[in-house]
Amino acid sequence: MSSAPVLELRDVQKAFGAVIALRSGTIAVDPGSIHALVGENGAGKSTLVKIVAGLYQRDGGDFRFKGESVDFSSTAQSKAAGVAVIYQEPTLFPDLTVTENIFMGRQPIGRLGRIDRRAMRHEVERLFTRLGVTIDPDRPAEGLSIADQQVIEIAKAVSLDASLLIMDEPTAALSGIEVERLFAIARSLRDEGRALIFISHRFDEVFDLCDTVTVMRDGAYIATTPIAETNVDLIVRQMVGREVTDLFPKQDATIGETVLSVEGLSSPGVFHDITFRVRAGEIVGLAGLVGAGRSEVARAVFGVDPYRTGTVTMHGKPVPGGSPTAAMRSGLALVPEDRRKQGLVVESGVGHNITLAIRQRLARFGLLTSAMENRAAQVWATRLEVKAHALDTAAATLSGGNQQKVVLAKWLATEPSVLIIDEPTRGIDVGTKAEVHRLLSELAGQGMGILMISSELPEVLGMADRVLVMREGRITAEIDRADATSESVMFAATHSSEQHS
Ligand SMILES: Nc1ncnc2c1ncn2[C@@H]1O[C@H](COP(=O)(O)OP(=O)(O)OP(=O)(O)O)[C@@H](O)[C@H]1O
Ligand SMILES: [Mg+2]
Repeated sequence: MSSAPVLELRDVQKAFGAVIALRSGTIAVDPGSIHALVGENGAGKSTLVKIVAGLYQRDGGDFRFKGESVDFSSTAQSKAAGVAVIYQEPTLFPDLTVTENIFMGRQPIGRLGRIDRRAMRHEVERLFTRLGVTIDPDRPAEGLSIADQQVIEIAKAVSLDASLLIMDEPTAALSGIEVERLFAIARSLRDEGRALIFISHRFDEVFDLCDTVTVMRDGAYIATTPIAETNVDLIVRQMVGREVTDLFPKQDATIGETVLSVEGLSSPGVFHDITFRVRAGEIVGLAGLVGAGRSEVARAVFGVDPYRTGTVTMHGKPVPGGSPTAAMRSGLALVPEDRRKQGLVVESGVGHNITLAIRQRLARFGLLTSAMENRAAQVWATRLEVKAHALDTAAATLSGGNQQKVVLAKWLATEPSVLIIDEPTRGIDVGTKAEVHRLLSELAGQGMGILMISSELPEVLGMADRVLVMREGRITAEIDRADATSESVMFAATHSSEQHS
């Protein structure tokens, strides 16, 4: 029968030195289906994907592709066999055009032995029409949004006629509309009979898109279930091995004096007249659609980006603009959105990364031994449940979610009086999510002011004492915890208002 699995892994193993990344990787993906792969941070999902992609070779177990036992020793081999992988970080060449990127390494050659640009153009137009894409094929890849870059990666996969398309957390950086477009394309590929694997920490997406779900825990296979026969609670229990009862453990904190005060901050074309306060002990949510200008405001307040007019004040003292060092000295910390790019020294160890922003303080007497470094780092690594073999393990080898935790730890270690945190739980699994929320609540309880940017409404509603909503570079509403509902926040995020304070 033609519905034999496209991909079959059974008890596949992979170790890196003493670290067992995969104990029993097992999955069977049928043609014409979308198969979700879920599990906690470090469960082995990406390792499994990299074996299928030929990036890693397995240590043991069965690996069949289209019914045949295979051993891909390079990504070129897996590609030639019909496997396409879309990683969370797109891998396009910025200087090449969209068309050139799609044909990278396999340009059609015309009669005179030259690259046949017209044929390439023609093929790209055909692809884009089919996928409903409106990107200009002649523009360089540089400057395209992550969403557009992912669509191009998909177009590439389709033009290669891949029979298996794997998406490893493709939606982490996408807005709602972009996710819809990605899903529409994924569904049409499924309906053409291709097999897809979809990895995500967002259960609403898994239930919306997928037909089947496989759960992994600690590198091992747990269960495979048709989506129609399972539910979030069951999946969470299979993933975590216990119940996660309270995802938003917000405690009441005593709200004190204003610590951070932002007045009339403007940066032409980016954000306008931004005014708000953060008080001690208070969690202020900054909600809005992706692209509303929230991260830009955070970066300007912390001095990463300049602003044209307005003032930032900490503890009543002005903070000079354009200087993260000055901002840090005033008691501010920013956990950026793109933690891999902006927050992590991947080749350094976990401990070194965690203590990166407090080295000067630790080395008070001029000497910083690795024992001192490790002692300081251990506290935070434990609190955030960073899953690493040892503190000197290179950050590059941690799973995506665990890298996020390391950057979070690094900024928490500075013990700021105001913490600005951009998408605190993006890419973080449910169990740890509850843990991060508990920690934020606890820090607020100890008097820290927190400005939390989040695109997840439940997170904003569950954690914030007060919600600021931004739309198109302006604050359009300020809503108290008691009045904050998905309706009131969504309304302010999508409608303009004259009464912004
Ligand atoms: N190259 C490597 N060297 C050493 N250890 C590694 C390497 N790659 C992965 N690991 C380890 O293997 C385990 C599984 O990692 P993997 O990236 O597969 O997790 P994941 O399920 O994709 O998690 P996440 O949801 O956080 O992305 C982790 O403990 C990780 O630290
Ligand atoms: Mg991963």
